[in-house]
Amino acid sequence: MSLRGKQRIKWAAREMPVLSSLVERFIKTKPFLGVRISACLHVTAETANLMLALKSGGAQVALCGSNPLSTQDDVVQSLKHDYKIPVFAKRGVKTRQYYQHLKQALAHKPQLTVDDGADLVTFLHTKSRRLLKDVWGGTEETTTGVIRLKTMAKLGKLRYPIIAVNSALTKYLFDNRYGTGQSTLDAIMRATNILLAGKVFVVAGYGWCGKGVAMRAKGLGARVVVVEVDAVRALEAVMDGFEILPMMMAARIGDIFVTTTGDVDVITKPYFLNMKSGAIVANSGHFDVEVNVKELEKLTTKVTVARDNVREYTLKNGRKIYLLAEGRLVNLGAAEGHPASVMDLSFSNQALALEYLVKQHAGLTPAVYPVPSIIDNLVAELKLRSMKVSHDTLSPKQKKYLTSWKIGT
Ligand code: NAI
Repeated sequence: MSLRGKQRIKWAAREMPVLSSLVERFIKTKPFLGVRISACLHVTAETANLMLALKSGGAQVALCGSNPLSTQDDVVQSLKHDYKIPVFAKRGVKTRQYYQHLKQALAHKPQLTVDDGADLVTFLHTKSRRLLKDVWGGTEETTTGVIRLKTMAKLGKLRYPIIAVNSALTKYLFDNRYGTGQSTLDAIMRATNILLAGKVFVVAGYGWCGKGVAMRAKGLGARVVVVEVDAVRALEAVMDGFEILPMMMAARIGDIFVTTTGDVDVITKPYFLNMKSGAIVANSGHFDVEVNVKELEKLTTKVTVARDNVREYTLKNGRKIYLLAEGRLVNLGAAEGHPASVMDLSFSNQALALEYLVKQHAGLTPAVYPVPSIIDNLVAELKLRSMKVSHDTLSPKQKKYLTSWKIGT
């Protein structure tokens, strides 16, 4: 178990050259010497590499899972036994134990928090408030977490500064788009082994994740239909060559449905009732609220396991609906999450944002901050360098021209 986890951690490291270059620097500069960090992240091989990077910089890290179904148990074993990092996570935990794990990670009395979805920060602000006095700052990985934290800040509830890693261009343009795009399709194929060519593939939400999923489904020959509530994004989808339909119309024709909205109740009872028999439903948004599984259960006479990560719901109307990974993020529940190369970008932003917080936290107030652009650009430069891609730079004349206003026609 532990050997398999170790192999997978090392395999991921091969594809994380930017993070590796940070490790080399952290070993020398020790930016986190003695700093206690509690992280709540999907426990994957890539996350393991982030934990090792922080440890190489002198941090004392404790890790818990950020979703009940995304934990890779072999990675947990390896982190605990091979690398002596305390990890509180297990695939398939119930809600109570999930929160118990958060509590255990917080017992570490963090000075910095790393969150993915804001469950840890919320727990800290509601159930473990006495620990807040030690916290300097934190980072947040995903869109949904940033939305929650911005609401907390707006309501005056947030007690320490948070850097929204998701705001970095080198995060959402790549992780959300190419990462979610590839890994969501990977999960659907692993779970079902169906041919995508010729299928009607419905993507709800044409944000960064939705764009990636739609693009990859199209590449595999599916006929992609997009469901959107935002006019600009719907227009963008149309001009990208996709059909836009209201969910009710899409429900009638779809073979596969994927939600990537970060919103609640995107697929509910009326849509289930209108789906074709055999429809496959999955969610790639952060929480399991997008597909209303409770309503699906109420419509159902029988639930069976069709394959690993596939549940067959036989409806009272006789039709069958297949739900993947319990409606939780499918790319982590039914596959391995994003490929390491893309997490290299996200987690390098994480590591650098944490380093920034160590140095700058005293000057920051409780609010949600973007990743400083200097970090964003550095991550892009390092990634390009690792890919042996060189790009042009501005000449002094061009720089001057681009910052002047007097030269026109
Ligand atoms: P985004 O804000 O760029 O896009 C969300 C889109 O959904 C927007 O265009 C919005 O108008 C649309 N939308 C909202 N409610 C809708 C509804 N009821 N019906 C149709 N469309 C609706 O967000 P992003 O970055 O694409 O993230 C989406 C979700 O995916 C979030 O929960 C985020 O945390 C999560 N995420 C998941 C990842 C994974 O590994 N599966 C990776 C990164 C993000």
